Amino acid sequence: MIKPGQLVMLVSPKNKRYFRVLQPDEILNTNDGRLQMQTVMEQGFGGRVYTHLHRPYTVIKPTLYDLIKAVKRQTQIIYPKDIGYIILKLGVAPGSKIIEAGAGSGGLTTALAWFTGTHGRVYSYERREDFAALCRSNLEKIGLESRVELINQDIATGFAQKNVDALFLDVRTPWDYLEHIPSALAPGGPVGFLLPTVNQVSTLLSAMQERPFSSPEVLEIMVRHYKPVPERLRPQDRMVAHTGYLVFARLDAPYPKINHHAAPDGEQESEIC
Ligand SMILES: C[S@@+](CC[C@H](N)C(=O)[O-])C[C@H]1O[C@@H](n2cnc3c(N)ncnc32)[C@H](O)[C@@H]1O
Repeated sequence: MIKPGQLVMLVSPKNKRYFRVLQPDEILNTNDGRLQMQTVMEQGFGGRVYTHLHRPYTVIKPTLYDLIKAVKRQTQIIYPKDIGYIILKLGVAPGSKIIEAGAGSGGLTTALAWFTGTHGRVYSYERREDFAALCRSNLEKIGLESRVELINQDIATGFAQKNVDALFLDVRTPWDYLEHIPSALAPGGPVGFLLPTVNQVSTLLSAMQERPFSSPEVLEIMVRHYKPVPERLRPQDRMVAHTGYLVFARLDAPYPKINHHAAPDGEQESEIC
């Protein structure tokens, strides 16, 4: 038995997926006919329900992967393979406070909201009103909107938050906004970026050298799927060969200033003030 308020994924005979926050009195209109959500609730996860036209639907408890794949998109979203590593590098956990920009369609936002939980907070900046609205509607469909503060603003004006645990930028020219990071991110906190070209990575790394960032890391993640045929096991013919480059670093705490005085015997003395 599924509890009201739980998220369910209903998979059609043609593999079309419907996501619903379960309400027992709702009737879902599908391409294959009407489905009673009361029956879905009674069948439980893994069960099978039939539309009024006798078409079978499977009831599934969606994983985060399912949710990200289903994000309605008008922008390129970050792929699950990249999101997995981003979550680990940013240390996203229940209770974390995270800033991201831009929200776009909300692919990464979905994952951040999932992991920060009910006691965390995602501050998601997006300068385009239409994309902010799309991101909000994607989050509402899966019941995660209360964990995200969507801020329809250009990050050129900076971030309103202080001392967040981590910060991620998926914007075209992140080097333009580095100056705003130290006032928003906790000292020592992780920062990450996604960029589609090496030229952008190079420009970003140069700009980071002028700012208080250390431990830079640059990488890309490649995933190769296999045809799941036991007697002819081999890679799929096509793969997504490139999504983006990931860049990570840590924000340095402000260093104490060092004053150099010439000692009487001519040697240098240092004083921390
Ligand atoms: C590639 S999309 C982000 C996709 C998103 N990370 C996802 O996983 O779905 C880049 C977004 O950044 C937004 N953007 C670019 N520059 C921005 C800025 N300076 N301030 C706020 N948003 C910005 C764009 O409008 C666009 O929606």
